[in-house]
Amino acid sequence: MSQAPTPSASTDEAAQVCDFGGLQIAYDARVLEPRPWTAMQSRWAAELVSDVPDARIVELCSGAGHIGLLAASLSGASLVCVDVDPVACAFAGANAAAAGLSRQVDVRCVPLESAPVEGEAFDLVVADPPWVPHADVGRFPEDPLLAIDGGDDGLEVARACLRHGRSLVPPGAGMLLQLGDDDQVGRLGRESAELGWRPGEVRAGERGVVLHLLAV
Ligand SMILES: C[S@@+](CC[C@H](N)C(=O)[O-])C[C@H]1O[C@@H](n2cnc3c(N)ncnc32)[C@H](O)[C@@H]1O
Repeated sequence: MSQAPTPSASTDEAAQVCDFGGLQIAYDARVLEPRPWTAMQSRWAAELVSDVPDARIVELCSGAGHIGLLAASLSGASLVCVDVDPVACAFAGANAAAAGLSRQVDVRCVPLESAPVEGEAFDLVVADPPWVPHADVGRFPEDPLLAIDGGDDGLEVARACLRHGRSLVPPGAGMLLQLGDDDQVGRLGRESAELGWRPGEVRAGERGVVLHLLAV
């Protein structure tokens, strides 16, 4: 890790930089530290849009932006990053600029339920919601509460990603949703049909899993 200038929305926190699949990603203690294993989600996303001309990806709960940025960098797709936290959004914008991706990337600092706007359609949703059950967040004191608190059963924001994400893609398009473990995949998978999705392949990472869902 090295020291880096802070993005404009930052105040007095010291920013750090890590390598994420070849991208230099700045972050500080106010956002979730990028986890190297999640580059798998980026590579999978890039693979899914590789044959789509002028592909468009929307990332819900983008944090410092690295998962979507790596997918955009690998695939050439355009990317809309959505996060409710202004500090995370400032880092996402700065990280897009540092990667030379600003023309491809639009960062929107809003609750996921209100973005993007009517009439926009995407080829893929990438989502990385908080998934720690509220009662367990004390086990991760180093992580910002907003980034990890998934509500009573850990799946409240993930459910919102499914519900809202379905309005952003046509039938046949997909979502790559990060969750904590196979138990969460099973529980959300059972609910996904009524939210307009069919669960598919699951890939395991070092400290989480990624579920591919298809819009029906
Ligand atoms: C698990 S972190 C993921 C961040 C990043 N993708 C990463 O891997 O480090 C979850 C992110 O969701 C954001 N978030 C939480 N609730 C949200 C909501 N209702 N709408 C939009 N973003 C939200 C938090 O600000 C946080 O950046």
